Amino acid sequence: MAPFFSTTRRRSPARRPPSPTKTLFAGSKSSTPLKPTSRPPCKATVSCADILAVAARDGVVKLGGPSWPVALGRRDATTASQSAANTDLPGPSSTLDALVSKFAAKGLSARDMTALSGAHTIGQSQCQFFRSRIYNDANIDADFAAIRQGNCPLSGGDGNLAALDVQTPNQFGNEYYRDLVSSRGLLHSDQELFNNGTQDALVTQYSRNSNLFFGDFAAAMVKMGAITPLTGTSGQIRLNCRAVNP
Ligand code: HEM
Repeated sequence: MAPFFSTTRRRSPARRPPSPTKTLFAGSKSSTPLKPTSRPPCKATVSCADILAVAARDGVVKLGGPSWPVALGRRDATTASQSAANTDLPGPSSTLDALVSKFAAKGLSARDMTALSGAHTIGQSQCQFFRSRIYNDANIDADFAAIRQGNCPLSGGDGNLAALDVQTPNQFGNEYYRDLVSSRGLLHSDQELFNNGTQDALVTQYSRNSNLFFGDFAAAMVKMGAITPLTGTSGQIRLNCRAVNP
């Protein structure tokens, strides 16, 4: 992974690129926009994968969560595999054993898995992914189940949304773990982390100590961000993040 470098490294002033304002108005005596210079536009330089990795980190920071150094130099894939995604990614009805083994298959420990699941402190899920939990699971707070059933009927409404963290869905904090301790995890897979199993003690610690959670989450994000990136001449730098280059 030689081409990887970190955004936290400072460039020397000589290598630092001019600010956008300076570039735009270079040589101009007024604020009239210039014609394009002879310098070619800077495209095919930063991959969409790197942009996403940095945006994810900055989004977490913006919502009150921890920061971490993002190694850069990933390239974008030219192929995708739905069957690999279906096999490798755990689903919302997973058991704890399945969660642990699917993360282990990618070199992530059970502790990494439990810390990374804390990303569910933000965002939402569609009804189809938590319906079975709110109607069938026994280890769920009754009031919480009733509230969620209000917008997720037994049939229909598959796409209806509910917050993954019932307390502070738009803030990055340790409330997700407090939800789990009070049987208010939205996904079956969430509540598996606190269901008389191996992760109960860690969930309890995270629910009481957000600094511990933040440190473990940041470390696990660095680890996850380094899983088999495309580098060198593998893949490509997409010009449009929605599609492989023509
Ligand atoms: C542990 C295994 C995991 C399972 C089973 C799981 C499952 C899910 C499901 C079913 C949803 C709802 C998707 C939808 O309704 O369209 C979701 C949302 C989300 N997940 Fe996970 N997830 C897992 C781990 C992770 C990890 C490791 C992260 C990031 C570090 C993450 C971040 C998110 C975020 C941010 C959302 C909200 C998306 C939004 O609001 O648009 N999840 N997850």
